[in-house]
Amino acid sequence: MARLRTLDDIDPAGRTALVRVDFNVPIQNGRVTDTSRIDRAARTIAELAERGARVVLLSHFGRPKGEVVPEMSLAPVLGPLREALGDVPVRYAEDCVGDAAESVVAGLRPGEVALLENVRFHKGEEKGDAAFADQLARLGDLYVADAFSAAHRAHASVAALAERLPAVAGRLMQAELEHLEAALENPARPLMAVVGGAKVSTKIDLLRNLSAKVDVLAIGGGMANTFLHAAGYDVGGSMYESDAADTAWRIMDQAASKGCALLLPSDVVVADRLAGDAETEVVRVDAVPADRMILDLGPESAQTLGQHLETSASLVWNGPLGAFETPPFDAATVQVARKAAELTRAGRLLSIAGGGDTVAALTHADVVESFSYVSAAGGAFLEWLEGRELPGVTPLRA
Ligand code: 3PG
Repeated sequence: MARLRTLDDIDPAGRTALVRVDFNVPIQNGRVTDTSRIDRAARTIAELAERGARVVLLSHFGRPKGEVVPEMSLAPVLGPLREALGDVPVRYAEDCVGDAAESVVAGLRPGEVALLENVRFHKGEEKGDAAFADQLARLGDLYVADAFSAAHRAHASVAALAERLPAVAGRLMQAELEHLEAALENPARPLMAVVGGAKVSTKIDLLRNLSAKVDVLAIGGGMANTFLHAAGYDVGGSMYESDAADTAWRIMDQAASKGCALLLPSDVVVADRLAGDAETEVVRVDAVPADRMILDLGPESAQTLGQHLETSASLVWNGPLGAFETPPFDAATVQVARKAAELTRAGRLLSIAGGGDTVAALTHADVVESFSYVSAAGGAFLEWLEGRELPGVTPLRA
């Protein structure tokens, strides 16, 4: 794979760097409730400012579909951004192109930062429109991609802009790619994948790609019910996809042909409803009562996953193993996550996780700091696990 160009390959002093960040952060009543994406982007911004660049930040927020939607303004990000950057002056432009943007950018001195308004307020952004990308490109003379979490979108500020200016990866993008590549492209083996979440149908490509690459593929969450059903078990009142049985079989066959051990649960926790006070029972997978639903892996299954982790050198994790938001159905996710964290801390496992609910599940298990790397990306992490080229990454390769 071609080498990734990074901030080490450029001299940004005196230049205007257009930095694509992902400030698509949770905002409630005009306040950012989780600043992690802003804090993570600060490293690249601070480095560029320190090295004498004028730093211009481009981001989307929400899905305003090319209209100006005041509730989707990036203005609430300014406060946390200034806090994350300390002494670095940060200005704000009420548009990302045209006079408003151009005059703010023209007034920047080296070492200063400007945050431009939501790029998705323009229809050209999501279309990857060339004229809109040209307008953005006029604002700077260097492009720094630091939004791995948006790199699966072939949008103007992600892909087309990178073709118009000298383009490099920022530190966050670099860290994401280095960790992800260490886990899947060139991993220490045995390599184990843990995949959970609700549906097989949304993760077919991911399961297909992983079953060809990993040594052990453990399936949990609602999607395990679909596999169990396909394998002939009666899953009672559990949620499962009746029309995904063929897909499940294809994945099981492919795993077998590639020498990948596919782990399905041997026992499960069942209840009559998804509620914290529901009566629960642990049963074997061939004894799920007709009026009960599977809501978590059982203790034996969780222990089996732990044993496989003990003998693995690398782990890629996506998706919770049970209905973790409603304890006690968080038990297997917490137990396996803590085992992975313990092995990582002991230097015995490289552990990479990401995508959708996964960060919430690992945060709930209090292990985020102990994993080798937890990606801030949702959809982009999934597409990467599917083995796809990401349009925001391809232009950064030498
Ligand atoms: C995310 O939050 O996963 C990214 O910012 C991408 O957002 P999108 O799904 O609206 O493109």
